Amino acid sequence: MNELNDKIEMIRDAMPATRNQVYLNTGTAGPLATVTTDAIAKATANAAAIGRGNFQIYTPWLESTATVRGHYAKLTNSPVSSIALTHHTTDGMNIAIHGLKWQAGDEIVTTNWEHQGGYIPAYVVGRRHQVGIRMVEFDYWDEMATILAKLEAAITSRTRLLVISHVTWNTGLRLDLKGICDMAHKHGVLVVADAAQSAGMIPLDLPASGVDFYAMPAQKWLCGPEGIGALYVRQDRLSLLEMTFAGFLSLENPMAYDLTGHYLPAPDARRYELGTVNKIMYQAMAANLDWLANEVGWDYIYQRIARLTGYAYERLSTLENVTFYTQKNAGSGLITFGLDGYDPPRVMVKLNEEGVVLRYLGLPHALRIAVGFYNTEADIDRLITELQKVQAMEPDALPVYVSPFEK
Ligand SMILES: Cc1ncc(COP(=O)(O)O)c(C=O)c1O
Repeated sequence: MNELNDKIEMIRDAMPATRNQVYLNTGTAGPLATVTTDAIAKATANAAAIGRGNFQIYTPWLESTATVRGHYAKLTNSPVSSIALTHHTTDGMNIAIHGLKWQAGDEIVTTNWEHQGGYIPAYVVGRRHQVGIRMVEFDYWDEMATILAKLEAAITSRTRLLVISHVTWNTGLRLDLKGICDMAHKHGVLVVADAAQSAGMIPLDLPASGVDFYAMPAQKWLCGPEGIGALYVRQDRLSLLEMTFAGFLSLENPMAYDLTGHYLPAPDARRYELGTVNKIMYQAMAANLDWLANEVGWDYIYQRIARLTGYAYERLSTLENVTFYTQKNAGSGLITFGLDGYDPPRVMVKLNEEGVVLRYLGLPHALRIAVGFYNTEADIDRLITELQKVQAMEPDALPVYVSPFEK
């Protein structure tokens, strides 16, 4: 027990945002560890001291990209050759969705629970190539068999791609990725999964799931810096996925082209990489993932998220007048809920003032917590206390929220 206590204290000491407040919004961005911010400082100081064009910069950068690629591969139980480094989840979704050879009349199936990162590239492809979009409507309490049946019912002979989240960002439901891929493949349909809310939250075995394309970020459950992500491309799908964007990093080596229009793409998923990236942040991401894998441990992370989320669901259930939008054993670290009669953005601001960081969602209009491996039962208890205090207030007495996007 003491060892476990020591470990969580070590983790919380190493992640300043988890001290002096209750941090429950890894679904937007995970807390940065000090090893990560130290690496940013060190790499920045080095770049400033020796100059960003100094050839000596390339060694730490290339080493860190290899480390980051290796971690994404291990996390997903896939070969490094399946991993393309990207800028964020949405980047990976775009590479996969735009990269298929679309023909007018083709169809994409997607669901009412996706993020813009899935919808918008699908809509753009829809408009550009006259591809139809079929929207599957899930209900909050749909069982997995119903979800599968609804998806299958939407597939026609023209369907080419299913755009779906592994864990839904708004209802926190972990979908049966293998079941979905098996069903889709039976109909000749490829699957691109949005992994913004699954990578780093739940154990992954992408080859076993059969998924074709899997788009991951760095900044959420992996607690990395912004501006990095990874796309898994199933090895036998490389030839199906065109390079929509390309540059010196897409080539087998940067000189593998001539002046007559010939070029040699990288033989693996690196072909979807393009040009200069933020080398400093790659060094930070490498330090971050080394720390998570070696000091914290993935088994610890996954088990702790699952156990604490169960605890949070139980504790939230003890409140009166709570509406859940997440199923009880949803299999994720997200819980979406509302306090009946209280405006979610205003509750969010009030809780933030009290040192509890969560977010509100538009659809459903509700609050969402993301339970991380660095949280404690005491964090969850604090959340409950603050929610009870809100329930003791008049709804109009809560502070008003003005979205920075609408100012
Ligand atoms: C399911 C889902 N997809 C995509 C995104 C966008 O992620 P990114 O900024 O990494 O593209 C988010 C989060 O904001 C998300 O929750």
